Amino acid sequence: MKAIGVTREGDEPQLLDVERPEPSEGEALVRTLRVGVDGTDHEVIAGSHGGFPEGEDHMVLGHEAVGVVEDPNGTGMDPGQVVVPTVRRKPDGKTNEYFRRGEPDMAPEGEYVERGIVGGHGYMAEFFTSPADYLVPIDEDLAEYGLFVEPISITEKANEHAFATREPFEWRPESACVLGNGSLGLLTLWMLQQKFDRTYCVGRRDRPDPTIDIIDELGSTYVDSRQTTVDEIPDAHESIDYVYEATGFAPHVIETVHALAPNGVGALLGIPEPWDFEIDGGTLHNEIVLHNKCLIGTVNSHIKHFEYAVETLEDMPEWLLDDLITTVATPEDVAPAFDDDNDQIKAVVEFDSL
Ligand code: NAP
Ligand code: BGC
Ligand code: ZN
Repeated sequence: MKAIGVTREGDEPQLLDVERPEPSEGEALVRTLRVGVDGTDHEVIAGSHGGFPEGEDHMVLGHEAVGVVEDPNGTGMDPGQVVVPTVRRKPDGKTNEYFRRGEPDMAPEGEYVERGIVGGHGYMAEFFTSPADYLVPIDEDLAEYGLFVEPISITEKANEHAFATREPFEWRPESACVLGNGSLGLLTLWMLQQKFDRTYCVGRRDRPDPTIDIIDELGSTYVDSRQTTVDEIPDAHESIDYVYEATGFAPHVIETVHALAPNGVGALLGIPEPWDFEIDGGTLHNEIVLHNKCLIGTVNSHIKHFEYAVETLEDMPEWLLDDLITTVATPEDVAPAFDDDNDQIKAVVEFDSL
C-alpha cells in the first residue's frame, strides 16, 4: 500500500510501498481519509525531534489523522465509523504505570512511542491499525476536518493543566496571548477567544499575510515580535493572565514570565533545540515568586482531551477550518504538503474520502 515517510538516507518525505498492516487482537483496521502536517512533522523531517522505529530504515510520517473503520476485527467497533487515533503507544507492547492509568501523555521519554514522531510508524498510509481503545469516534459530517482533533486535543490538555494551577484561588482572567501564528497557535487563539475578553497573537510577519488575516477576522490583536517583545505589548507588561507559547522560540519563556500579570499562568508547548542565551535569573526568580506566577510545560494528550476536542471542533466556525487548510495533497504528489512557505497554514495529505 502507499505510504508517505522518511528514510535514513533521504531528507525529503517520499512515497513508499509498504505492507498493509494486519490488526492484532484488540486492534481495528482503519482506512485513512486525511492526515495533517504540523510544525512537529517538520522537526521530525529535519531530524531535530523524534526518531525512527528501532531496526527500521524508514518511518511512516503523520500523527494528525482521521479514518474510517474498515475491519473492526472483533473489537465491537462499527464498520464505517469515522475515527481519530491518539498518538502515544506502549513501547514494544510493554505496558507501564502511565498506560495502565490511562495517562500515557504523562509518561516520561522511553516509556512510550509516538506514532509518526518517536519510534513508531505514523498514519500517513492507506491503512493503519490501532487498539480500538485509542480510536475516538467522530460524526461523519466532521470527517473532512477530523485531522484537527489531535492538535485541538493538545490545547485541551494544556488549558486543563494551566487552569488547574489557578484553582486554589479566585482567578478572574481577562486577557490571553498566543505566541505563534502556526496552525496550533491559530486553533488555540479561537479556543481562548471563547474564554477571554482580550486576546493577542504574536508572529513575525509582514502584512498581507493569511495568518494575520485570520487573527484580524477573529477580532484579536496581532503583535509583530520583531518590533515588540511579548512583555512590551502595549498595556500588556505584567498584565496578561494567560500566555500560550507555540513558537519553539526559547527566549519566549523569559518574555512570558515578564508579560504575565500577577497570578497569571504561562503554558509552554514549543519544542526548541538547545539554545544558550543570557538572562537575568534573579529578576525572573523574584517575579515568579512575588507575583505568584506559574509556568507549565505540556506535551501530548489522551482520550479525554480528544473527546473534549471533538466537542470544540463541532463549535468551530467552518470559515476558520476552511481558511486553515491551505493545501490538500495526494500521496502521489505529496511535496506541496511539506512546502513550508508563509502561505501554508495546515497542509493535508488525502488518501481517500467517505
Ligand atoms: P508551526 O506551524 O511551525 O508554527 C510556529 C509558528 O511560530 C510559526 O508561525 C512561526 O512564524 C512562529 N514563530 C517562530 N518564532 C517566532 C518568533 N520569534 N516570534 C513570533 N513568531 C514566531 O508549528 P505548529 O504546528 O503551530 O506548532 C508550534 C510549536 O509547538 C512547534 O514547536 C511544535 O513542535 C510544538 N508542538 C508541541 C506540541 C506539544 O504537545 N507540546 C504539540 C504540537 C506542536 P513563521 O512561520 O513566520 O516563521
Ligand atoms: C504532537 C504530540 C506529541 C508532540 C511531541 C506534537 O506535534 O501533536 O502528540 O506528543 O508533538 O512529540
Ligand atoms: Zn502535532
